[in-house]
Amino acid sequence: MAERILLLGKGGREHAFARKLSESSLCEHLYIAPGNPGTAWCGTNVALDPNHFDDIAAFVIQHQITMLVVGPEEPLVLGIWDYFQQRHLSHVRVIGPSANGAQLEGSKDFAKQFLIRNHIPTADYRTFTRDTKKEAVAFIRSFTTPVVLKADGLAAGKGVIICTDKQEAINTLDDFFDSGKFGTAGNKVVIESFLRGIELSVFILTDGKDYLILPTAKDYKRIGEGDTGLNTGGMGAISPVPFADDAFMKKIEDRVIKPTLRGLNEQQIAYTGFIYFGLIKVDDNPFVIEYNCRLGDPETEVVLPRIENDLVQLFIAATDNTLHEHTITQNKLHGVTIVVAASGYPGTPEKGKFISGMDQVHDAIVFQSGTTLADQLLISNGGRVLTITALGQDLSDARSKALQAVDTISFEGKYFRRDIGYEFF
Ligand code: AMP
Ligand code: GLY
Repeated sequence: MAERILLLGKGGREHAFARKLSESSLCEHLYIAPGNPGTAWCGTNVALDPNHFDDIAAFVIQHQITMLVVGPEEPLVLGIWDYFQQRHLSHVRVIGPSANGAQLEGSKDFAKQFLIRNHIPTADYRTFTRDTKKEAVAFIRSFTTPVVLKADGLAAGKGVIICTDKQEAINTLDDFFDSGKFGTAGNKVVIESFLRGIELSVFILTDGKDYLILPTAKDYKRIGEGDTGLNTGGMGAISPVPFADDAFMKKIEDRVIKPTLRGLNEQQIAYTGFIYFGLIKVDDNPFVIEYNCRLGDPETEVVLPRIENDLVQLFIAATDNTLHEHTITQNKLHGVTIVVAASGYPGTPEKGKFISGMDQVHDAIVFQSGTTLADQLLISNGGRVLTITALGQDLSDARSKALQAVDTISFEGKYFRRDIGYEFF
């Protein structure tokens, strides 16, 4: 039976999902809430807020939705899965974990306790609150530098501060506890040791027991070339990760993925959906830096085009507990995705700039992230405006094609990194 799908979210990640879902013969109709002008090419955009569950549920009932795919983390952390269970909507296939499962991303303290309890390699840490600020200061004084401070709650990628100097770390505590700079996300702070190594991201689709590993990716979070400047949501990504060979992936499965699923089962945490493992390779060993309860943006834009499976079929399998009957088929191509951002990003982006040249792009996929329509014209409407993915025989081929596409498109203040994947050239 074909599915009537509602996809939540509005970024490049959701455009990539929408494109892939709409290609499936098992997709009867696709709605995207709220979507963007790019997703409107793949299905029907509906003006709903993913965090307003009553509105989402009313739409699901009215339009006989059978599958709900949750792109961003916020509705998951707020408990959309649990809401559907409680409101007699448990017949809807929800792709995303329970609120408890989403705590892997929603609370850094929860994630660290989970990692330690399940003997999964991660940086040493302690958690402090405003009430234990004095102990936090003493802990920093006794700790090695660099020291990493993390806001416990969701902070849209801005909650991690790496301090090379102890005094700077102590001053940063004030930002968390006193200035309110991180809102309630900063009420608790995880302080952990700095791990030196090379990062990569591994994603699984799971039904809570079985899992499928998706293509690996590496994202580039800093605004400047050579990984300099401020952190962003991500300026580009590559897939596959050249150093993630079979031996290293086996270590990740044995030391990270399997113990994570075992831990979720032991704690009876319901989890259907994606787990994103933010990893760092230290001396050939994987350590977990963070968990996310959804796929990454822009990683999704480079990972999904490399998967040959029917995504709707995989989602059906995840909700029917038949994932073990499937394997992921990756194409042999290399992918590079480049984020085209607005001037001002990651601070306040300039919006409302007319975007031209998209119809001239060949040999690359243009995903829309922060765009909107004004009088039928496409204009910028966010920090990350477009995400452009190209596939090639090798990394160099893929990057040339992606850059060529980026160069074809123009809008005032357009900013992007030319060096995505630079360590591997
Ligand atoms: P997160 O928001 O947890 O993804 O952290 C943002 C970035 O901070 C990560 O991608 C890493 O580059 C860096 N980071 C976080 N924790 C550590 C750590 N313990 N050691 C080194 N780098 C880290
Ligand atoms: N690109 C990082 C993230 O989605 O969290």
